[in-house]
Amino acid sequence: MYVCVCDHLGVSFSLLITVPVDLSPEERSELEDIRRRKGALLLEIQRLREELREAIIEVEGLETSTEGRSAMHQVPVYLMSDVLATMCYLQGIAFLVENELLRNTAEDIAQFLYKGEGLNKTAIGDYLGERDEFNIKVLQAFVDLHEFTDLNLVQALRQFLWSFRLPGEAQKIDRMMEAFAQRYCHCNPGVFQSTDTCYVLSFAIIMLNTSLHNPNVRDKPGVDRFISMNRGINDGGDLPEELLRNLYDSIKNEPFKIPEDDGNDLTHTFFNPDREGWLLKLGGRVKTWKRRWFILTDNCLYYFEYTTDKEPRGIIPLENLSIREVEDPRKPNCFELYIPNNRGQLIKACKTEADGRVVEGNHMVYRISAPTPEEKDEWIHAINSAVSVDPFYEMLAARKKRISLKKKEEQP
Ligand SMILES: *[C@@H]1O[C@H](CO)[C@@H](O)[C@H](O)[C@H]1NC(C)=O
Ligand SMILES: *[C@@H]1O[C@H](CO)[C@@H](O)[C@H](O)[C@H]1NC(C)=O
Ligand SMILES: *[C@@H]1O[C@H](CO)[C@@H](O)[C@H](O)[C@H]1NC(C)=O
Repeated sequence: MYVCVCDHLGVSFSLLITVPVDLSPEERSELEDIRRRKGALLLEIQRLREELREAIIEVEGLETSTEGRSAMHQVPVYLMSDVLATMCYLQGIAFLVENELLRNTAEDIAQFLYKGEGLNKTAIGDYLGERDEFNIKVLQAFVDLHEFTDLNLVQALRQFLWSFRLPGEAQKIDRMMEAFAQRYCHCNPGVFQSTDTCYVLSFAIIMLNTSLHNPNVRDKPGVDRFISMNRGINDGGDLPEELLRNLYDSIKNEPFKIPEDDGNDLTHTFFNPDREGWLLKLGGRVKTWKRRWFILTDNCLYYFEYTTDKEPRGIIPLENLSIREVEDPRKPNCFELYIPNNRGQLIKACKTEADGRVVEGNHMVYRISAPTPEEKDEWIHAINSAVSVDPFYEMLAARKKRISLKKKEEQP
């Protein structure tokens, strides 16, 4: 596939300049290969240019009496998308603009991408994700073409996420989901307190999709857990349970489809994979080992008494924590969550007492024992990736912080 000519050309160009003369045989053959591909691509572009030029001449012949712009509607779409698929997207669009097949306004280009029959949705996503001022305008116009009035959030997300493929970079996803949330709130005033709420809930729904439909996730959260994990996100208040139930049912009944699904759904592309399983946890004050069902998600460890419990027994936010292997005389496969350079602080966490009161945790460290050495390694790995800086997590955390700040301001 000759998807992005400029990339290939860019690579060969820089190779020619920077690679030293003493190439290894493999490098030499790779260079040959790149040169050969470059030649083939240039020929292909030449062919398309000619084909397009002929089409333009033909159209102009038919259209001499009417204004020039209508020519754009006459050029077969297959030809345009051929050009776009073969040339890099930026170049392809520039080419159409240059030849007056497409007007150079954000609205026209957005229309073209929105209708975009036959266009590659990954390439549309890449184009809309560019940080260039003009591309951001196109993104805005593109999102505004979506009609979300009276759709619930899941229906709107289905439509939106099907119109292009979200790229894999945090900042791009952030811009796109922000534009989505604004558009949704604009079309449906009064459903959410703020666009931040809409944004955070959209991610919760995308993650729910993975939990419910990805076969690698064994523990399928019930609707009550979904509701409890979304407490307080409506600028400090709760969203109506009925709304959350409807969204949950909708995802449960039908997974989100994304274009060009390569089996790596969005959550796995942009969040560290979640994990769950049975572990033994050593008590903070009373040093007994309790068997708990742990779920690692959203940069927190949640633990439950039973897999079917609605409310977690405890929540340990992983922010600022580290993890290490430890030997324990009584239990095998142990690891520990701790605060680096700790001077006697307790780890910030909370748990629910038997009588239902929520209290602060009283652990200097959390010592945990896994059933097998393999599971110990997997947990350490998963928690390590969760605590290392994850741009997607940061992005969501920033919204949640904003929501909780707003809540504080409103309180007298
Ligand atoms: C769309 O483009 C991406 C990369 O830009 C490529 O991996 C994918 O195979 C293309 N899809 C189709 C259907 O051509
Ligand atoms: C929803 O989950 C399915 C199954 O894992 C996956 O194929 C699809 O890409 C997911 N959708 C999103 C938006 O992540
Ligand atoms: C983590 O550390 C930062 C900087 O020291 C602090 O502002 C933040 O409150 C800490 N978070 C938690 C959960 O302890």
